[in-house]
This record gives sequence, structure tokens and C-alpha cells, in this order.
Amino acid sequence: MTAYSIERIREQFPILNQQVNNRPLVYLDNAASNQKPNAVVDCISNYYTSYHANIHRGAHHLAQLATEAYENARTIIANHLNAQREEIIFTYGTTDGINLVAQTWGRRNLKAGDRIVISGLEHHSNLVPWQMVAEENGCIIDIIPVLSDGTLDMVVYDQLLEKKPKLVAVNQVSNSLGTVNPIAEMISKAKNVNACVLIDGAQAVSHFEIDVKRMDCDFYVFSGHKIYGPTGIGVLYGKKDILEAMPAWRGGGEMIKSVSYQSFSVNELPYKFEAGTPNIADGIALGQAIEFVNSLGLNAIREHETLLTQTATQRLLEVPGMRLIGTAEEKTSVISFLIDGLHPYDVGTLLDQLGVAVRTGHHCTEPLMHALGIPGTIRASFACYNTLEEVDLFIEAVKKATQMLS
Ligand SMILES: Cc1ncc(COP(=O)(O)O)c(C=O)c1O
Repeated sequence: MTAYSIERIREQFPILNQQVNNRPLVYLDNAASNQKPNAVVDCISNYYTSYHANIHRGAHHLAQLATEAYENARTIIANHLNAQREEIIFTYGTTDGINLVAQTWGRRNLKAGDRIVISGLEHHSNLVPWQMVAEENGCIIDIIPVLSDGTLDMVVYDQLLEKKPKLVAVNQVSNSLGTVNPIAEMISKAKNVNACVLIDGAQAVSHFEIDVKRMDCDFYVFSGHKIYGPTGIGVLYGKKDILEAMPAWRGGGEMIKSVSYQSFSVNELPYKFEAGTPNIADGIALGQAIEFVNSLGLNAIREHETLLTQTATQRLLEVPGMRLIGTAEEKTSVISFLIDGLHPYDVGTLLDQLGVAVRTGHHCTEPLMHALGIPGTIRASFACYNTLEEVDLFIEAVKKATQMLS
């Protein structure tokens, strides 16, 4: 291969080159967290060995280097999302970003009787924060139902919009099923009724180019560890005028302009929402992760993952009793499945014995599993570094596990 050299990509992920239970590791738990290339790991190490210092407040050399690197990462992220720098808030991750919006914009703007529309595909992180606000302020949460193929019922969505919700909060891609939601259409319809829109991009950022301006969402959130970056760091994008109107959330250092014993005034964006010493190393490394992804090209990554997903999906159907959960036409590289008569957890445990790492359970979408009438699924998900040989190993392992458990 020339353009997309899987060998050269895998060289950058030494963690993949190991044995688990005396078998070559086949890592297919990428939707939970993908692995980190050397550039990201080295970036963190280099920060701590060469220029660690607290940022923004020090006049000394190391503090300047650290501040420049951290703010440069913010610029990389802003450019990647087509946002302005002050619209990029560093968070701890997707969950943290949604909670920030819920506790600031939500508590301020969602009043008794106001409606919030979310989808039946949401991760708990895009459900519970809204339930907390709804409980406190007396709002009503409406759910867009999920059809049997794992897509959203857009007819009901239109009906829910007729009730003039204040907020629509949906994921771009479902973590449990891989369904790619028609968010362009959903955002434009939500805007027609003046709803604020939050997009949970946790499962989208490692597969799609994101242009928040073209998308016209009000908020976009994601986690660094879903895009080959570190855990403990994430991003909240918000439209500048909305962020400016929002009250600060956490109080402390960095988020203030000035403080007296009686009161405080808030700092300008984005620092207004970044109280306390931030996760400097991982913020810098997230910039590096985005550069890594862009060096491969998101279109090339998606093309590669599509080949793996389509091949694996076809071959899984050779397994007796196979039931695919989520068969939308537009999907990312997630395959959720069940095997008749077998518990997902037992299958997952046996796959691990055979060196294959998958995830089993409700994938933090318990209501979705209830709606589908299943206890959970076995979920395999592919990333830029997976290979067709690994698809073979995966299929063989599923067949073997099925035989052993039947
Ligand atoms: C769609 C979606 N939303 C939110 C989250 C929560 O992300 P984090 O745990 O990084 O905050 C995840 C994680 O799996 C996810 O897939």
C-alpha cells in the first residue's frame, strides 16, 4: 500500500504488538477508547521531561513554553473544527462538557414546562445531565424513538419539534450501534423552531471531518481518548455569543478577572470555563492526536474502516444464530451483535481468551437496550490500525466461542 500504509500506521502503536492469553492481541474495543500513537505518548513524556510548568501565570521560561504549547493545541483544535479559539473550552471529556452546558446554559435557560428533545440512542452522558436539570427546573424530556434497524424515527422527531423544544441534544453517531444520525437535517429542523442544539460528537470525531460552522450547532462536545488522544481531556465548542451569555460554572483560579472578599468578575472566553490548573500535558497531546489523524486523513481512515466493517459484517453472518443489532445504512465501524441462546458476557469472555478484545453489556445506553428488548450486545469496533487479518482472527474466534458455548 502506498497512500494508506497499515504497516507504517501499526508501527506507531507498539501496544498492538503483544500477546494476550498466548494469542496475538486483536484490539476491537475502539469505540470505548482507541489506542495512542507514539507521537501522542512522546508528546506527554516530552512535556514532563522538558518544559512542565503551570501555565498562564508564570513569567519564567518554562511557563511560557508550556503556555504556548497548550494554547497552540487550542488553535489546532479550533482549526480542526472550524471554530474560533475562544469558542474552544478544554474539559475532562464528553461527559464533563455536557454537564458544563447542562449546569450553566441549562439551569439558566430551561424553565418549568420547557421541553428537551434527546434521542433514544443517547449515551447516559447525554441523558442524565438533562434529567438532573429537568428534575430541578421541572422540564420535560422527549425521546426520539429508535426504529428496528437502529435509525431514529424522524417522523416522531418532526412531531416533537412541533412542541417547540428549547433544546435538542443528540449524538452524531451512536456508540452502541454505530448509527450515523442525519444531524444536518436534524439541526436545520431544530433551528427552524429556535431550539438550541448540542451535538455529542464522541463517536464521530475519529471518523468524520467536523465543521461546526457549517453544521450550525450551538454546542459540540467530544473526548480526547476517542480520537487517539489521552484520557482526562476533552473539548466543548460553543458559539461565542452563547458562551458569553452563560454563567460561569466552577469557580476558582483562571476563571476570574478580579476578585474581592465580597465578589468576583469572570475572565474572558475561553478561560471563564476553565477553573483551576488544567490538564496541561493531555491538552497539548490532544493537539498532537488531531495532527496524527489529519496526517492520515479522515476520509482515508473511514475508507479503510468501512472495508473492515463490511467484510466483518458479511462474515459474521456465517455464524449460526447470529443477530446483528443495528443495521442502518449509514454506520461507522461499530458492529453490535448477539448470538441466539448465548449471553453476551460469556461470548466476550471467551473472545478475550482467544486474544480478541471486544466490549459486552449495555454500553452506557441502558434505556436503548430496554427499548430493543435485549440485555446488551457484543460490540466490536474498528480503528485506523486494524487489519483484514484481524477480521479473520475475530471471525474465527467468534465461531470457536459459539461452538464452545453451544
Ligand atoms: C456517544 C458517547 N457519548 C458520551 C460518551 C462519554 O464519553 P466520556 O466517558 O469520555 O466522557 C461516550 C463514551 O463512550 C460516547 O460514546
